[in-house]
Amino acid sequence: ARFGGAALAAALLTATQATASLAAPGNPGEPRYSAGAPSLGDPYFPDQGNGGFDVRHYDVTFAYDPATRILDATTVITAVATQDLDQFDLDFRGPEITSLKVGKHPAAFRRDGQELVITPRPKLKTGETFTVTVAYKGTPPVITDPDESIEGWVPTDDGVFVPGEPQGAPAWLPSNDSPKDKATFTFRATVPEGVTVVGNGRLVSKTTKNAKTTFVWDSAEPMATYLATVTLGNFTVSETTTPSGIPVYTAVDPRLVTQSANAVARIPDILEYFSSVFGPYPFNTAGAIIDRAPDVGYALESQTKPIFSSAPSVGTMAHELAHQWYGDSVSLGRWSDIWLNEGFATYATWLWTEHSGGATAQQTFNSSSNYGRAATSSFWQIATADPGPEDMFGNVPYNRGAMTLHALRGKIGDTAFFKLVKDWATEHRYGTVSTADFVRAAEKVSGLDLKAFFDVWLYQKGKPTAW
Ligand code: ARG
Ligand code: ZN
Repeated sequence: ARFGGAALAAALLTATQATASLAAPGNPGEPRYSAGAPSLGDPYFPDQGNGGFDVRHYDVTFAYDPATRILDATTVITAVATQDLDQFDLDFRGPEITSLKVGKHPAAFRRDGQELVITPRPKLKTGETFTVTVAYKGTPPVITDPDESIEGWVPTDDGVFVPGEPQGAPAWLPSNDSPKDKATFTFRATVPEGVTVVGNGRLVSKTTKNAKTTFVWDSAEPMATYLATVTLGNFTVSETTTPSGIPVYTAVDPRLVTQSANAVARIPDILEYFSSVFGPYPFNTAGAIIDRAPDVGYALESQTKPIFSSAPSVGTMAHELAHQWYGDSVSLGRWSDIWLNEGFATYATWLWTEHSGGATAQQTFNSSSNYGRAATSSFWQIATADPGPEDMFGNVPYNRGAMTLHALRGKIGDTAFFKLVKDWATEHRYGTVSTADFVRAAEKVSGLDLKAFFDVWLYQKGKPTAW
């Protein structure tokens, strides 16, 4: 969704006209149609998200052939109108749209950058559940981020690697691309026999006919669009179960099986340890996708199936699994709060390292990549809780974020701290949070005024010396 400019002006104008023409008294039940907002107003990614409706489910059916790189897809979105709508937007940067319907009716649409502007007829009334069916065909784009890394639909030598944080999902999925609008997902993907498709959630079925295999994946718990994946290619699949009974589905590029063996073997132990510290694992399924995507160079906590672009260390595996609690189940409402994802996942990894016999969390805090950095280092010149889009995946939200949590633990004591992080995951399961919510929760559990503490660690520049 685009914020500002002509689209916004048009939306506001339509809203004003609708109000003016229908505001006559005596018609309290009359619909007042207007265009849904073209943005949800995130300052880091102002094109993201759209207003006027709430998506409940994405049902994505597609065929893809790694040899031709052609995606032939139909996505059915089920949504509920939150205002009377004569127009609304989706976010989409994918290939040519061949047909678009709202309910049973073909709808007019136009594309303007990432905005897919749709004119539903009949118009939609507040509270109405409706479907949008979008058919599209072609090669989805690779998307470049403010930090120069790539995401979206990234071809590999045997398939596609599909990461979507923070803005990759619209490359292949018409969507309301905001972590504020979570939904359930079903993927039905048909590929040449021998190719494996791995999506979020549970593998419902895998059937082969005429040398093509169809995989159906179902994600029953709400998920942010940026956590959706349909990574596909040659994979060696293994399945196991955690001691608590969570099924674990792991797909590894055959060339990386040996190098990944250690990290893969520890998945059940890591999940069990985090469950003991953070509360029960939030989803019905777990796993990992380990692929060879050298141009990507990072891992991502795709829900229930974190994706790795190379063989991960045990620490990187622990980081992505910790995100299932912090980031995936408990979501951000705005990207400037990214430390709530990355600082928590990093601190969880410090805890895992200590638990598994390595450095203590205190030693990691003190190390030269953390508090041991010189006060003159540029590291200290970025605000933890507002790093900017270029540095949102840089060291600061991760390491200063984790340091913030460790310093908080020292300040409020172990009992209050571990209650805080467990309650945070439990009370906000599948919800949306902000830094202010966390400050309030920490003050409540400790009974302390922590405003100065959080100001020093999250908002001030410079190396904290007293807190
Ligand atoms: N959230 C990912 C992690 O586990 C990093 C994603 C980086 N994405 C990017 N576009 N740079 O740390
Ligand atoms: Zn992370």
